[in-house]
Amino acid sequence: MLPNKKIHISTYGCQMNDYESDRTFRLFHDKFGYHWTENPHEADLVLFNTCSIRDKADHKAKSSIGELKVTKDKRPEMIIAVGGCMAQMQGDELRERFDHVDIFFGTHQWNKLPEMIEQARGHQKFFPEQQVETNFENWKNYSFLPFYESNTSYRVRENVTIQNGCNNFCTFCLVPFTRGREVSRPVGEVLHEIERLSLRGVKEVNLLGQNVNAYGLDKRGEPDFVDLLDRVAQIDGIERIRFVTSHPAVMDAPMIDRLADNPKVCEHIHLPIQSGSNRILDLMQRGYHVEKYRELIQLLRKRMPQLALTTDIIVGFPGETEEDFQQTLNAVQEFDFDDSYSFIYSPRPNTKASKWSDQFIPNEVAKDRLYRLQALQRQIKDQHSKTYLGKTVEVLVESTENRAGVETLSGRTRNFQTVHFSGPKHFLCSLKNIKITNTYTYSLDGKLE
Ligand code: SAH
Ligand code: SF4
Ligand code: F3S
Repeated sequence: MLPNKKIHISTYGCQMNDYESDRTFRLFHDKFGYHWTENPHEADLVLFNTCSIRDKADHKAKSSIGELKVTKDKRPEMIIAVGGCMAQMQGDELRERFDHVDIFFGTHQWNKLPEMIEQARGHQKFFPEQQVETNFENWKNYSFLPFYESNTSYRVRENVTIQNGCNNFCTFCLVPFTRGREVSRPVGEVLHEIERLSLRGVKEVNLLGQNVNAYGLDKRGEPDFVDLLDRVAQIDGIERIRFVTSHPAVMDAPMIDRLADNPKVCEHIHLPIQSGSNRILDLMQRGYHVEKYRELIQLLRKRMPQLALTTDIIVGFPGETEEDFQQTLNAVQEFDFDDSYSFIYSPRPNTKASKWSDQFIPNEVAKDRLYRLQALQRQIKDQHSKTYLGKTVEVLVESTENRAGVETLSGRTRNFQTVHFSGPKHFLCSLKNIKITNTYTYSLDGKLE
């Protein structure tokens, strides 16, 4: 065992990747004695947890992997492992391009990582050899990273993955190819993990899945999504429950009723609409139209008056006309999104839409649409923020920082607004009532009630 071994993990992509990286760090810290370093060049083990959702995500990871080559030449004992969605898709290709990487592993191999690293260390003594493990044949056997209760600190809000994969095959999306079909994590395992987190001071859980509200539907007779949320709500110490990402096609009135009846479910729902044009939604194979989306939002707002609704939008999908795009702008106005994550369509290998190249939208047109959409969203967000002035909100304090001699606490409201106020450090991890005294587009200032 090396004394003072250092680990660095570069994480790209979604919160599911954050979750896997966190769990992996905790395992390597507690079990194998690694300490965190911010600087990958001085690490003994560097992990890249990659994403492939858009071309840009691929490029970012590839350039960082490339930058380590010089260091690896100088320090051959350093182990570099590249895992996650990009490695799953491009394992063999990456192996040819990056001969300084020791291990490539796919989305289903997290459990094997410690063993692969041991093997890589063994090889290096004799001859360097790359390992590529992206076996994906039997996605049904997917096993979730076991919860490893760690001595490292936990945040007041922690992610917990409850489902892997996706069955939807939206025509633009790579996720079903990178993570396989939907597999729900056993209820007992999820509850056990959250109970342990709660004993460590965690007060808010963010349940993760690519199609999270379809949780349990792959296992007949087992609790479904809202049943699971009811059981999580009964865990002592858990004050708030969030989840991401819900799919509009799986949401319905009974589900909304049960969500609204659960007092721990926060009034913040992320429900990607993707486009405001039914024609484009059909081409995307999203399984709903704007009318269904409207019904869901009306019900949600009726049952959760404080609701902050956020969404994802793609602009420049193949064949998107200016008129289709106008319908997206209209939807953003009508649904009054508190925020939206918007992206220019990026063709991904294997996906249906990537084959419609004769319909691709020129980049300048797509960029212009993105700017217009984001400008509108900023304006709406700014108006929303102003409505908080003078109101009292409940804040769960998640961080504290000394700003020019003043202890500044930051946290989130139930509907996910960021609030800053001054107060003592020991307020960390507690719920406080804060009166809003100043508003900015993306945050609020306040003082203790
Ligand atoms: N499962 C979630 C989202 C997963 S990916 C859902 O169904 O909504 C997160 C977001 O990335 C998507 O909502 C979509 O807006 C965007 N996205 C996915 N594939 C994309 C692509 N090929 N080009 C541009 N954006 C994409
Ligand atoms: Fe991708 Fe669609 Fe599945 Fe979301 S629902 S992960 S966009 S295929
Ligand atoms: Fe990216 Fe994979 Fe998540 S492609 S968005 S890291 S599921």
